[in-house]
Amino acid sequence: MSPKKKNSADNADIEKFARELQDQIMEQIRKKYSETVIDHWQNPRNFRKIETPDGYASVKGSCGDTMEMFIKMNREKISECGFQTDGCGTTIVCGSVATELALNKSFTEALARVSTDEILKILGGLPPADIHCAELAAETLRRALADHLYQKQSPWKKHYRKS
Ligand code: FES
Repeated sequence: MSPKKKNSADNADIEKFARELQDQIMEQIRKKYSETVIDHWQNPRNFRKIETPDGYASVKGSCGDTMEMFIKMNREKISECGFQTDGCGTTIVCGSVATELALNKSFTEALARVSTDEILKILGGLPPADIHCAELAAETLRRALADHLYQKQSPWKKHYRKS
């Protein structure tokens, strides 16, 4: 075999190996997580910081990971909701679901709707070791809502905040 043909045969082998490995990994993931989890994991919604938010919170979870949530209000509805985290993939999934749940809701609707149970329900459950990720997302959103209330009472303080 010429060196050129051998190289392209080697590359095809490597690509085949990589594809098979990726398929095996996805198979393992599908045993543990629902398609909804995989969808939010591959395409997280609202993973972004929002400048001058009307509500903001940063919460450290029991595992030591941190989540930040940002909300913007327009006519008493949550018009924008974003999050960032240095946590695991499941945290990103849960943050993504929490922001989608909060969007276009009023303050009280969001407070009633966004909970650990609701996030878990939408995701079709999570392994026990990942439940704290849903708790972190729900808690961060609740605190961002509480911050919004606080800002409403003292709007001038918004200009002295870090976020
Ligand atoms: S492992 Fe830390 S929040 Fe998911």
